[in-house]
Amino acid sequence: SSSSPPPASSCSHPPDSHFIGKKEDIVKAGRMTMLVNRCRDVLVVHHQGQLHAMDTRCYHSGGPLQYGDIEEFNGHMCIVCPWHKYKITLGEGEGLYQAVDNPTAKPLRTHWCSKGVKQRIHKITEVNGDVYVTLNNSSEAIESDVYQTEKYRTFLLKA
Ligand code: FES
Repeated sequence: SSSSPPPASSCSHPPDSHFIGKKEDIVKAGRMTMLVNRCRDVLVVHHQGQLHAMDTRCYHSGGPLQYGDIEEFNGHMCIVCPWHKYKITLGEGEGLYQAVDNPTAKPLRTHWCSKGVKQRIHKITEVNGDVYVTLNNSSEAIESDVYQTEKYRTFLLKA
């Protein structure tokens, strides 16, 4: 038709995505933070050959996840917030915690539980070594959204 899209060569990136860098640079750095689409602070981490993207500030109290260690808990790779050690799965943004089986039994035994998705995860796409983030714009509220305001950004920069 006459309204055909422009040739693919002029627009090879995935729709609604934002170029964030070359894969080799991100792999070298290990992790990067960036403001995507002038509206969202996103952390990108490279871990065991995979790239992951999530809101930068921890859903609990706004801790800087870019300084968190990555560890495996209950078979899930998690970033551990440096402030109060909350564990957030890289893949889904779920908050994991250890629950006590029976508080009266000695010794105490625990098992891992999920609080559900607490941290907003964004989508990463790689095209020929170029890496793009597609913001997760689902209208469902996710707790980490609270720390994505201009006010909080300014507050953290001053802190
Ligand atoms: Fe991340 Fe409290 S701010 S665990």
